[in-house]
Amino acid sequence: MKSLKNKKAIITGGSRGLGKATAVAFAQEGIDIAITGRSEDVLKETVKELEALGVKAIYAVFDVGNYEDVKTGIASIIDRFGTVDILVNNAGIAAFGSFNDMDVKEWSQIIQTNLMGMYFVTKEVLPHLIDQNEGDIINVSSTAGLNGNANTSAYSASKFAVIGMSEALMKEVRKHNIRVCTLTPSTIASDMSIELGIATKDSEDSVLQPEDFAELIIAGLKLPRRAMLKSAALWSTNP
Ligand SMILES: NC(=O)c1ccc[n+]([C@@H]2O[C@H](COP(=O)([O-])OP(=O)(O)OC[C@H]3O[C@@H](n4cnc5c(N)ncnc54)[C@H](OP(=O)(O)O)[C@@H]3O)[C@@H](O)[C@H]2O)c1
Repeated sequence: MKSLKNKKAIITGGSRGLGKATAVAFAQEGIDIAITGRSEDVLKETVKELEALGVKAIYAVFDVGNYEDVKTGIASIIDRFGTVDILVNNAGIAAFGSFNDMDVKEWSQIIQTNLMGMYFVTKEVLPHLIDQNEGDIINVSSTAGLNGNANTSAYSASKFAVIGMSEALMKEVRKHNIRVCTLTPSTIASDMSIELGIATKDSEDSVLQPEDFAELIIAGLKLPRRAMLKSAALWSTNP
């Protein structure tokens, strides 16, 4: 099993929810972490928790949907870290509503964040991974990226697109020893799903928890470099 100690990771949306659980799990493996998000206060709090686990932890504040800000934010992380080995494209938003009722602005915002944000961040990180001829990119889609449902048009459109982009990228960059993994988890009791009312806080016995998602990512990263987890669908056993 490959050790991950001293690797450097960027986790977008690492301040809370699945991103934070992944950051904590990475810190426990000895990985230095840069987390990103829009709310500086929340990022600062999470960085303190990560530092307490004995790793180097930094943050950058930017909206993944704004390419100019992404360029500055990623450059500042790479300046401070010197290098990057792992990118977890996790930042995302969800909102549900009927096709006609959902405001055009809200619908577009979901695509801008979940799809364009992942594209912008990857575009800025990828040249560094290609230069070092090794790296890992984990792209977070959803079961909503495999099946459309009533009231999920914007979220499903963004997450279907992520799967297509991610698979195309995987085929393009594996020759550089870069492993691209697409995850399609079902409902996990994160900050987001609790706020949306699709999961509850006291569901540990039956519903996926953020740390389960983090465990899957670590398991994929620990595979020998010759092996790559292409995609994985994580489900609750008996919700
Ligand atoms: N929870 C689930 O059941 C579930 C299931 C399948 C897939 N997913 C996917 O998993 C990912 C994480 O979800 P989560 O449940 O952990 O959500 P969450 O608890 O709401 O956390 C989302 C994170 O993304 C950041 N973020 C949101 N919009 C951003 C933007 N425009 N620019 C930069 N950062 C942004 C947030 O920080 P700021 O708000 O400070 O920016 C936060 O750190 C998402 O891509 C989601 O679609 C979740």
